[in-house]
Amino acid sequence: MTATLIDGKAFAAKVREGVAAKVAKLKAEHGITPGLAVVLVGEDPASQVYVRSKGKSTVEAGMESFEFRMPDTASHAEVLAKVEELNADPRVNGILVQLPLPSQVDENAIINAIDPAKDVDGFHVINTGRLSTGQDAMVPCTPLGCQMMLRDHLGKKMEGANAVIVGRSNIVGKPMAQLLLQDNCTVTIAHSRTKDLPGVVRQADIVIAAVGRPEMVRGDWIKPGATVIDVGINRIERDGKNKLVGDVCFEEAVEVAGAITPVPGGVGPMTIACLLVNTVTAACRQHGVTEPEA
Ligand code: GUN
Repeated sequence: MTATLIDGKAFAAKVREGVAAKVAKLKAEHGITPGLAVVLVGEDPASQVYVRSKGKSTVEAGMESFEFRMPDTASHAEVLAKVEELNADPRVNGILVQLPLPSQVDENAIINAIDPAKDVDGFHVINTGRLSTGQDAMVPCTPLGCQMMLRDHLGKKMEGANAVIVGRSNIVGKPMAQLLLQDNCTVTIAHSRTKDLPGVVRQADIVIAAVGRPEMVRGDWIKPGATVIDVGINRIERDGKNKLVGDVCFEEAVEVAGAITPVPGGVGPMTIACLLVNTVTAACRQHGVTEPEA
């Protein structure tokens, strides 16, 4: 069998169109232009690429983009002061501090200093708590994008499905589990210390690979017909060339799975689209207006 490809790039383009339509209505009907501020501390090349791409997509959707770059020698107090300045700025509806931060900066303290209403990453403890108790939360962008693709592809078939998440990060694994529970999946969070990891993954109707290890999930770990969402973005060198691969060995898995997201062109574009979705939601809540229909 050859799996159906879940085209995240095309899906993300549709989501971004919907965001642009909502932004146009917010401007016309309420005079509101949502604004997103991104803070990048240091020179990490991958982070620089993400931040540039976020800024471009924000402007293309009709929103205001604010970008702040700080040197990797920036102190904790300097980064905190920037967050506080953005919390107080009414033009800024969403704040994203790109992670990881340099070691002298206390990452958790910075995340929890962001106004929860502007926390478009959904990493603040208030938002993680709201998500896990079924209250209105800002939902982390990568798991939100995965949920949208799964709902689109599987719909009601998610109900009662065995979902195995490989990876227990705060950014993906843990919030993903909450979202899958909302859709009535039976959820397992597996990780590098899980006993018989291939055996656990083989039970899954839905596999979410988010471990950050290139091609760790092999084709013979996949139950025939399963839906595979590959969150990994790993740069590797093969045959003297730089290549982007996921956490799943695509060539093997595509022969076994029912559906699979490619890397690149799967989860990645959806993450940025969901950041725009969250920024519009945050702006509407801050202004006390109902979110317009797309
Ligand atoms: N670094 C890697 N992924 C993310 C993300 O989703 N948000 C932030 N802020 N930093 C990241």
